[in-house]
Amino acid sequence: MEELEAVKSKIKTFVEDCNDEKSLELLEKLATGKMLRSKLILKIAGESIESIKLCAVVEMIHAASLLHDDVIDEADTRRGKPSVNALYDNKTSIMFGDILYSKAFTQLTLMDKKIAYTVSNAVTLLSIGEMLDVDLTNSFNTSYEKYNDMIYKKTASLIEAAAKAAAILAGLDEEKYALYGRNLGLAFQMIDDILDITQDSATLGKPAMLDFVEGKVTIPYLLLHERLEDKSKLEKLYKKDLSQEESSWIKEQMSETKALEDSIKMAKDIGNEAIQAVKDEENSQTLIFIMKAMIEREF
Ligand code: FPP
Ligand code: MG
Repeated sequence: MEELEAVKSKIKTFVEDCNDEKSLELLEKLATGKMLRSKLILKIAGESIESIKLCAVVEMIHAASLLHDDVIDEADTRRGKPSVNALYDNKTSIMFGDILYSKAFTQLTLMDKKIAYTVSNAVTLLSIGEMLDVDLTNSFNTSYEKYNDMIYKKTASLIEAAAKAAAILAGLDEEKYALYGRNLGLAFQMIDDILDITQDSATLGKPAMLDFVEGKVTIPYLLLHERLEDKSKLEKLYKKDLSQEESSWIKEQMSETKALEDSIKMAKDIGNEAIQAVKDEENSQTLIFIMKAMIEREF
């Protein structure tokens, strides 16, 4: 996609504006992701100088949040490549995150006020979401409500804001697109949680079956826990480095109780609700395609 190249080059220009060699060096070290937020903005708002700038701002905020998240999660890989905290150190990852994030905000101040408000407000939610995520790893969470609130804030809020801001830019119905973006984000996180269990580490670009070890009771685990008659075995494996046998037991139970299957169904239902919201829009076919591709993705 040519437009995505334009987004990457805009990010580079924004970082060049900072007049700092080290920042440019660090930017080169970031692995490019799926650029889901940019694809969404470009599909909703079309390609223009303004939409490319909006994409760059959102991608820089997203990249900054991951630079911080990898320190918080002590992750040494990101998108199949060594993370900045692994290549350099935690301090560098945090400081470069701060540079990307504040430069994105500087650019936001030059944009339409409503767009600036929508995106910046989402960053507060994102930060609260990260805190909730960390807090939820303190003990075995069995609340769907807490899980949903956390994934909305941590993941869906910025995708919702991207869709809404793009709709504002294009003069479209903001609320419809916000709902679409919100549900795309919720389903995205649920699929991420499912792939952690179904895929191997080579496909994921990070260790597999790590969520539960890290104390994250994601949607398939919530369903599994609810459905197991004897919950003690699963509870004992919580936050433990899993042996081959233990990983296999979890996977078997996931399939026997249909916890995995039903998690996929839940993500699909959320996706369908989003599709309903935009079905009469001119670009509905592409939005349906984005949702389907996201749900059927393998990493
Ligand atoms: C990845 O989650 C993390 C996020 C989507 C959000 C992180 C947000 C912050 C650190 C708030 C700070 C924000 C800024 C802009 C500086 P994950 O750990 O579940 O996913 P992963 O497996 O990809 O790491
Ligand atoms: Mg992480």
